[in-house]
Amino acid sequence: MPTTSKKRRSNWRIPPKLNAKVSRHTINEQKVFITDKETGGELVSRWMVNLQKRRTTTGEGTTFGLATGSSPVLVYENLVKAYNNGDFTTENLNTINLDEYANLEAGHKETYKQFMKKNLFDDIKLPESQFHIFGSNPHSNDEEDEEIQRINELLKTYPRHLQLLGIGPNGHIGFNEPGKTLTVDTGARVVKLAIATCEANSRFFDNDINAVPTHARTLGIADILAADSIVILAWGEAKARAIQKAITGPVDSLLPASFLQRHKNVAWVIDKEAASILFGKGMRITRSMARMNLYLQKQIPQANQ
Ligand code: GLP
Repeated sequence: MPTTSKKRRSNWRIPPKLNAKVSRHTINEQKVFITDKETGGELVSRWMVNLQKRRTTTGEGTTFGLATGSSPVLVYENLVKAYNNGDFTTENLNTINLDEYANLEAGHKETYKQFMKKNLFDDIKLPESQFHIFGSNPHSNDEEDEEIQRINELLKTYPRHLQLLGIGPNGHIGFNEPGKTLTVDTGARVVKLAIATCEANSRFFDNDINAVPTHARTLGIADILAADSIVILAWGEAKARAIQKAITGPVDSLLPASFLQRHKNVAWVIDKEAASILFGKGMRITRSMARMNLYLQKQIPQANQ
């Protein structure tokens, strides 16, 4: 009798309705999906909804690792839509956030907790007991240690099935900044933010770099890599160099996102601008890319100027 090999279902299927708007590539063994921001938001939220549905049918709970910043906003908007039309449920759902500033008063509008409430949790009515995020303002070193410990325990209790990420223009993931001493040790940690990050994030603090917290808490690189699957999002040319190095360069602590090469199940979802130098000069235009180009020309003519 022939042996039937059960084909593993890919996490990264493109729904037919989005097919013409997304081009799919494998570069250095990593999956790269190039599309526009709106389609990317829809695509990734669909992956999340489907993953949760698959797990729910077998009676299993789902944990998402979530990120902040501007990159995932449209993913969250689409999750809210799916929730409102009954396609996405918070039953058996837990979330753990990637990072949080240190020393911002709880309730400050730029804490990542407030960001998550505003962009997702309030709209999907996710109870506080189901979302997990670092406290933003521990008052002593002991409190800080307890907070780190609490998140480390939660990582064990709720293994993540999908980790959402953004990437800093300097290649950071979470708040793991480039540096010679970056290791892949497990465990949440307190970090000092790179000047480049403070500059990039000052846009959320009235462009006043002095108002940006100097420190933050973040899951470590190894904690990120411990998720079953990872989706990393990036929009715009400012990310192009970091993305090219992360995908095609050596694994290097000076480019934290390059550690994603060590994970077997990563999907990069990026726009044309973020992918602009990824393929180098001899870029081969694939059929799906040509199709997507046509779509982009119609939808956003400026993308090709
Ligand atoms: C912050 C976050 C990161 C995020 C990055 C990118 O620094 N700590 O987790 O990936 O911003 O932000 P944006 O998506 O706004 O470009």
